[in-house]
Amino acid sequence: MISVHPTTSDDLDFVQALEADWQNGQYITQWRRAQHLEALSDPDCAHRIVRASADGAKIGFFMLWGLQSPHRCIEFRRIVVDRKGCGAGRAALRAGIRMAFTEHDAHRVWLDVKSHNARARQLYQSEGLVEEGTLRECLIAPDGHYESMVLMSLLRTEFEARGGPAGFS
Ligand SMILES: CC(C)(COP(=O)(O)OP(=O)(O)OC[C@H]1O[C@@H](n2cnc3c(N)ncnc32)[C@H](O)[C@@H]1OP(=O)(O)O)[C@@H](O)C(=O)NCCC(=O)NCCS
Repeated sequence: MISVHPTTSDDLDFVQALEADWQNGQYITQWRRAQHLEALSDPDCAHRIVRASADGAKIGFFMLWGLQSPHRCIEFRRIVVDRKGCGAGRAALRAGIRMAFTEHDAHRVWLDVKSHNARARQLYQSEGLVEEGTLRECLIAPDGHYESMVLMSLLRTEFEARGGPAGFS
């Protein structure tokens, strides 16, 4: 359904357009181009473009951070797909989780998600990520109200209990 490729500077217009789209912007942080460029060459980060297998079109991106963590804790940061509701997000999440545990020897994969992001929370829960707690009212939204973030994680033992790489294919 999807394939995953290292992001290049040529992909950054696409990445920034996705970040700016109103459907995504309410749930994720937007970065300046310079921040993405820095991430592309940071050995602590895997910045990835998601493509649809059917036509090769770019349909999303995600980042893994903490590849050099001595604690083997890898953060899944900012997954976005533009073809929503057809399983591409789930496939991209699985690809990132597989990559973290198999290529980068993660012990723990974690993320934070806005508490009102019901779709993403449902997706993460259904892939076995466990809610650890809530950072209550930790962000100010553009309209001035406070938003909370939920911390979620998947441990290596849980990844293996769900079938390891095969369970996340
Ligand atoms: C979050 C995101 C990556 C998920 O990708 P997606 O392709 O839309 O998701 P999928 O279709 O693979 O699966 C989403 C699941 O949530 C469910 N879902 C959809 N809308 C929902 C809602 N409003 N409430 C609860 N669950 C919902 C779907 O039914 C599906 O579950 P199912 O397969 O068991 O039916 C994508 O929607 C996106 O880019 N959102 C904007 C950016 C964002 O929020 N990123 C996450 C930041 S932490």
